[in-house]
Amino acid sequence: MRNRMIAGNWKMNKTYTEGVVLAQGLAKELADGTGDVDVVVCPPSVDLKGVAEVIEQEKAPFALGAQNVYWEESGAYTGETAPDMLTNIGATYCIIGHSERRGYFHETDEEINKKAKALMAHGIVPISCCGEPLEVREAGKHVEFVVDQIKKDTEGLKIDDPSKYVVAYEPIWAIGTGKTATADDAQEVCGAIRKTLAEIFGKETADGIRVLYGGSAKPNNVAGFLEKEDVDGALVGGASLKADSFAAMVKAAM
Ligand code: 13P
Repeated sequence: MRNRMIAGNWKMNKTYTEGVVLAQGLAKELADGTGDVDVVVCPPSVDLKGVAEVIEQEKAPFALGAQNVYWEESGAYTGETAPDMLTNIGATYCIIGHSERRGYFHETDEEINKKAKALMAHGIVPISCCGEPLEVREAGKHVEFVVDQIKKDTEGLKIDDPSKYVVAYEPIWAIGTGKTATADDAQEVCGAIRKTLAEIFGKETADGIRVLYGGSAKPNNVAGFLEKEDVDGALVGGASLKADSFAAMVKAAM
């Protein structure tokens, strides 16, 4: 019903040259295909073209994603990237609402919602991130915190094809810290996300939307998350920066 997805978020790592080498390495590791698993690689924007070329040349079994977008079509928005620019370069996915963008760059749910709408209008699949900080988790309010983000981030969205909208649950305290949520922690929130999506879009649509877990996901723990009913894959940071570890995670999902 839902293909699993393993997506790599390179964050601000890898120069253009290094990005090409990593993409080539990954193409080699995954040369036998990825079965039913959808694989996405999200390099920094200046690396997108180089990775797109590797995908084309090597017929690599992964899709290209960006890490950010601006919602306007074009114009005087110095430093920003329009959806059309991503489509033109071959990107078919885009991460939005990552906690690092919410935190360091003060992105709001309203902006994330505008980005989702702009991407979907251009046929780009949003990978929309949500997740609670440590103090919210410790106060036991993580489910309601994330449900609130989901409601705001999806406000007014029309989802005709549920495979074209992806949610990633990334508890902030588990990102880059080596502290993973347990598989049960992930299921608790991913299940609540799906329930919320069902309330908004209907059960059938919600059942087709992939909900990923992210936060110190590694080759040795990804299988445990994937066993859970509402966890459909992983959004991987650190472990996506090496072809062998990322490929191992894809294989664990196959
Ligand atoms: P790490 O896998 O490095 O914890 O990063 C997770 C993440 O933020 C992916 O978007």
